[in-house]
Amino acid sequence: MHVIFKKLTKSFEETLLESLIKHEKKEEFEKIRKNLINHASKEEFGDYQCNICLVLSKIYKRNPREIANTFVKKLKENKNISYLCENLEIAGPGFINIKLKNNILIEEIKSNIKCPRAGVPLSNEKSKSGFPKKIIVDFSSPNIAKEMHVGHLRSTIIGDSIAKIFELRGYIVLRLNHIGDWGTQFGMLITQLKDLYSNDLKEIDKIKISDLVEFYKVSKKRFDNEIEFQYRSREEVVKLQNGEKKSIKAWKLLCNQSRKEFDEIYRRLNIKIKERGESFYNPFLKSIVNDLNYKKLLIEDQGAKCVFLDGMINKEGNPLPLIIQKKDGGFNYATTDLAALKYRFNKEPYGDNANRIIYVTDHGQANHFAAVFQVAQKANWIPENCEVNHVPFGLVQGIDGKKLKTREGETIKLKDLLSESVKKAKEDLIKRLDHESRNENDEFILNTSRVIGIGAVKYADLSQNRITNYQFSFEKMLSLNGNTAPYLLYTLVRISGIKRKNNIKEDNMNLESISFSHDLEWKLIRKLLKFDEVIISIEKDLMPNRLCNYLFELCQTFNRFYDQVSILKVEIDTKISRLKLCELTGKTLKLSLDLLGIESLERM
Ligand code: ARG
Repeated sequence: MHVIFKKLTKSFEETLLESLIKHEKKEEFEKIRKNLINHASKEEFGDYQCNICLVLSKIYKRNPREIANTFVKKLKENKNISYLCENLEIAGPGFINIKLKNNILIEEIKSNIKCPRAGVPLSNEKSKSGFPKKIIVDFSSPNIAKEMHVGHLRSTIIGDSIAKIFELRGYIVLRLNHIGDWGTQFGMLITQLKDLYSNDLKEIDKIKISDLVEFYKVSKKRFDNEIEFQYRSREEVVKLQNGEKKSIKAWKLLCNQSRKEFDEIYRRLNIKIKERGESFYNPFLKSIVNDLNYKKLLIEDQGAKCVFLDGMINKEGNPLPLIIQKKDGGFNYATTDLAALKYRFNKEPYGDNANRIIYVTDHGQANHFAAVFQVAQKANWIPENCEVNHVPFGLVQGIDGKKLKTREGETIKLKDLLSESVKKAKEDLIKRLDHESRNENDEFILNTSRVIGIGAVKYADLSQNRITNYQFSFEKMLSLNGNTAPYLLYTLVRISGIKRKNNIKEDNMNLESISFSHDLEWKLIRKLLKFDEVIISIEKDLMPNRLCNYLFELCQTFNRFYDQVSILKVEIDTKISRLKLCELTGKTLKLSLDLLGIESLERM
């Protein structure tokens, strides 16, 4: 109902200007127009409400009810308003309650039934060239030779969902994996590799490192304890930067090995993402320094080249610098991010030509991004009408509120975490099948528990307000009751069940004769019509948990309707009308699950 809401707001604005706000009050008008009408705070008040008469009463020093009376009279004369609204009712001290006409709602429902996006309009935001805007989502981004941990899992799940929402709205979306594949740590890794294979890396492709994380630990230990190893590692960094063949080959081997492990996780989670690691921006780092220098932003501080940040101070109260180039000439994580940001906004073919960049990482990097964005702003690298957003999220904790660990106190591997969820989903499923005396084949059991197990992990993550920490509990996320993936999947299965029992041919399900009478039908209709607004709001605040909350409410509304309203044993027109509502609920649910990266099930 996004479009109706906009139309209505516009008509209210016009009427307000014509009838109440005199020219000398123009300034006040600008303030009031922001929240001219809102969604009704309670269902019984109607669809929307307008509270501005109370504000106007202060401006004009008149009784708010009196003002409301005059305003409503004028509003009723507006053609658009009388077309859309059933009645405008003055309530309490001077609120106006707005109820839409039933036929308007039915027309909307019909159009959403036909719409493949269940009523979500394509965005009409265009870039300067007239094409849809280009959005970069920088997410997942694990580091080579290091563990991909639960933080990366959160980033992967949240980033994927945000990307999907923009794709649905018709934006051009570039999903980027900013993998940590460059830096001094490769010096020690390559040196260790050379030591192990006695510097003979001829058949490098055949070298297998079973556990890269372990390999990293051993290398780090040697680096910290052996001066001679440290020395060779530093030399190795220089060789790598100079592009020496053997070093590059060893570096690639290490990257490939990690990539295999990351890809395994992406395969299980069904994530599409393009790898463009830190190393890609290596050739641009020097020009970042030069450009900042040219713009007189660089200051030398104890040998390092820095930009001092406004409004950021260290513990001692001194201004905080962002180090762009270290004393030894090396660059930082932040330098790479500056080069990446610049490249992404640059015009093609020297860049991505993006309009918006969204970074999904844990909250711990909030200061890093604030600093990077500030420097980019100062250097004028963020073009007009373009924006950057950091999407921070909290920690994943065990049910004890502490860091998530295995029973033995080890950090949990992502692979194992996903397998555990699927295993638990399978146990629940087998119990349920037993209880219902159902017989299903192995393929059904395998697939159903996989979809539920993976879906539950994703949903548990997405349904939280991402900013807070959340407690990871298999028991909660796999429950059939509550705001969980199994509950939503179960509702969808119910809808598929109704569809299977329906014997009316699709061709005979004419939309023209649909009509509604039951209170629970209208409740469901109103819920269904809010879908587009939820999606559009996420585009602004990047909070996918809004979609989860909406889906939970939609399913509850639907299940109440399903439990109390007869669908199949009623006369034909009513039956078709109700079946169509089921169909639209199913479509909205399936589409939304897809936006959350969760597969659907016909039966479970
Ligand atoms: N590799 C980083 C990490 O593991 C995340 C990178 C996020 N993206 C970025 N452009 N800095 O913490």
